[in-house]
Amino acid sequence: MSAIESEAVTAAWARFDRAAEAAAHVPILSLFEAEPDRLDRLTLDAAGLHLDLSKQPLSAEGLAAGLALVRASGVEARRAALFGGDEVNASEHRAVLHPALRSPGADFQALGEPVSGEVRSTLGRMRRLADDIRSRAALGATGLPFKAIVHIGIGGSDLGPRLVWEALRPLDAPIALRFAANVDGAEIAAALHGLDPATTLVVCVSKTFTTQETLANATVARDWLRAALGEAGARAHFAAVSAAPERAEAFGIDRERVFAFWDWVGGRFSVWSAVGLSCAIALGWTAFEGFLDGAAAMDAHFLAAPLDRNAPVLLALAQVMNRDGLGRGARAVVPYARRLTLLPAFLQQLEMESNGKRVRPDGHAALRATAPVVFGDAGTNGQHAFFQMLHQGTDVVPLEFIAVARQDEGPPGLHRKLLSNVIAQAEALLVGRSETEVRAELEAKGMPAAEIDTLAPQRAFPGDRPSTTLVLERLTPESLGALIALYEHKVLVEGVLWEINSFDQWGVELGKSLASRVLAELEGGPPQAHDPSTHALIERLK
Ligand code: F6P
Repeated sequence: MSAIESEAVTAAWARFDRAAEAAAHVPILSLFEAEPDRLDRLTLDAAGLHLDLSKQPLSAEGLAAGLALVRASGVEARRAALFGGDEVNASEHRAVLHPALRSPGADFQALGEPVSGEVRSTLGRMRRLADDIRSRAALGATGLPFKAIVHIGIGGSDLGPRLVWEALRPLDAPIALRFAANVDGAEIAAALHGLDPATTLVVCVSKTFTTQETLANATVARDWLRAALGEAGARAHFAAVSAAPERAEAFGIDRERVFAFWDWVGGRFSVWSAVGLSCAIALGWTAFEGFLDGAAAMDAHFLAAPLDRNAPVLLALAQVMNRDGLGRGARAVVPYARRLTLLPAFLQQLEMESNGKRVRPDGHAALRATAPVVFGDAGTNGQHAFFQMLHQGTDVVPLEFIAVARQDEGPPGLHRKLLSNVIAQAEALLVGRSETEVRAELEAKGMPAAEIDTLAPQRAFPGDRPSTTLVLERLTPESLGALIALYEHKVLVEGVLWEINSFDQWGVELGKSLASRVLAELEGGPPQAHDPSTHALIERLK
């Protein structure tokens, strides 16, 4: 970055900080009156999703300052670099090109090399396997059709497919899909329990094909298949997805059952690749294609919409205002859709692994607070758990509500109740309830004054607690694809503003290497040097 650009960024941050300082003293509710066009400015539709940011602490000047910051920081150039296949992930010298996976008809290049041909050919192979298994043209080793898939993978090789399956699975799925991620033996045991090896396909997904948990679980599953079907039979029941296909073959998986993806696909951005194979089989190709199309529609929006009407940009600005402008260290994601219960877990990896960084690509410390803690659960369940703290706790935690306007499952009356709750929660957080109002109510009930004095402050709600509401018309493959792609692009925008590399994850390495050292000791190897607490735990657990 040149000195001139740096100055521009510094000046843009200074303006943004001034707007944040003002936001700290102006209730969000008052902005609706002060700025009559607020709702128009802060609501928009993108790729079939409706986004309402009007309950966020973004005044007209706050938004203008944020957009100036986006421009000064070079978000547009970075976006072009990502879609252009440049070396966006500098620490690993890689392009970052997940949009290529959902626009197979386009002509993408990664670091100057064409990639769309390989994308098309892999999608073609995935489709053939999915169609053949579903039509029973492909059968198991004993001639029986496949009735279940066990998907083995962890992190980005698990969370996306798991979310997609839970979001879209039919109630009476002809092919069941189960997942095993954790190296806790209870997980693979549960995944295999009750399944017939003769009707089960195991899909092992690992970008590196070196991940301890995945290889351990895959070995258990391979032994389970071999014990029932013999070595040759087991091969017909095993598929692998990896950016290191040679390692998958070395593990004993037939070449025609190995599906490649590429180093320009980050694990947490990989659900669009062959990592989604299990979903493509279990949901059918039409659904998987719809999922890709929804994401491609969000890509098109992100590329073409002006910055002030650009959903990923505005969502990122709300986050940056809360995180950096107002010092809020957490964000709750609450989908009012049971089928999206896993969205918070998915976003934990997408956002915290991408933007949980404290050093810039040039080796210098980040100048701003980066990714907040992301947590959440489905509504209304969360209301009966952690919402107490969100309404009345000492910390202000911004929320993201996700609502689905129309739903065919269950009676309409239940869905209206669900929607009434999501709307009411956002309103309650914003508007609150004053102590005066509570006092009046308690007085009307005839409560003694001394009791009112102690109770009214406890029953008052401060309000002015920000939230975003995202509305999906229906939960479909297309809307789910658009939703996930929206968050992916938001991560990119935030990473540019925070000047960090969103696409590496060095922070996961230390724990991995220490675990292999500790494992050697737990397996009887010689003791190593540790801090006293670690040493004591090893002694206790070995
Ligand atoms: O440990 C973190 C991580 O590298 C994630 O980034 C990744 O999604 C996950 O592990 C699984 O890695 P792999 O797909 O290589 O097994």
